[in-house]
Amino acid sequence: MKTISTVAEMREISSRARSLKQTIGFVPTMGFLHDGHLSLIRSARSCCDLLVVSIFVNRTQFGPNEDFDSYPRDLSRDLELCRINKADLVFHPPQEDMYFDDYSVFVEETRLSRGLCGAARPGHFKGVTSVVCKLFNIIQPDFAVFGQKDAQQVRVIDRMVRDLNIPVEIRTAPIVREPDGLAMSSRNTYLSPEERSQALCLSKTISLAEKLHSGGELRASTIESAMRELIESYSMAQIDYVEIVDSGSLEPVEKIEAPTLVAIAVRIGSTRLIDNTVLGDS
Ligand code: PAJ
Repeated sequence: MKTISTVAEMREISSRARSLKQTIGFVPTMGFLHDGHLSLIRSARSCCDLLVVSIFVNRTQFGPNEDFDSYPRDLSRDLELCRINKADLVFHPPQEDMYFDDYSVFVEETRLSRGLCGAARPGHFKGVTSVVCKLFNIIQPDFAVFGQKDAQQVRVIDRMVRDLNIPVEIRTAPIVREPDGLAMSSRNTYLSPEERSQALCLSKTISLAEKLHSGGELRASTIESAMRELIESYSMAQIDYVEIVDSGSLEPVEKIEAPTLVAIAVRIGSTRLIDNTVLGDS
């Protein structure tokens, strides 16, 4: 496995691979890898000749009061995990190679990124689409794998490649959870032991929605009320949003008929966590 730390070298290797007709698979990450990230790497591994993982904590997707500086980082551990999981290349560029001092071009999706996390984190998806577009241009992958954990992110990126005719296939991998149900996240490391146990309210609320739906409940408002009530029973939990939306358009629905995304964001202390499920997906 090789670590690449300049855009120029990465572009050269990708161009060479493409001219040799090799298939390039790509898994973008911000590092501090856990089993969620590794599941994406494993799912991509068997489908490509060259597997590239990027590790880049992207400043432009963090708000001014968010956790860019404190975001957990452990490059040597990440490199070892990538090696064990058979990545070919890890692309780890320095900030200044990705963003010139007078950097001034952004890619912005204007519809799907308005609600859910986009409402609470203005500018977040603009930062995500911009960096993912840059990474696609540098790495030129045939396909890229994203986690369903960030359901809105996948929808926004899918729309970006459709609308900008970017020749990359977007694949989605399921949410990986801790044994007790908590969705894996690099931000789980921020939680104190008490917060960690309160954080279980997210997966329990998602399970409640699934249970109500499989019991025949189709009214979004009924499911949403039950979800809010459960979260509110946890003393350290602060609801950011509980949303039941069409999984394609991300517009709110009244009844669960077509595939429907049930998504929540909850603050446990100062840590904002998200979780989701898709209902009505046959
Ligand atoms: P990051 O949060 O590091 O996540 C990288 C990828 O891992 C994303 O596609 C995310 O959905 C996936 N992932 C995270 N936790 C997961 C879990 N528990 N189960 C399955 N997949 C999981 O998402 C980003 O980085 C950035 O926004 C990025 C796309 C790299 C752009 O900077």
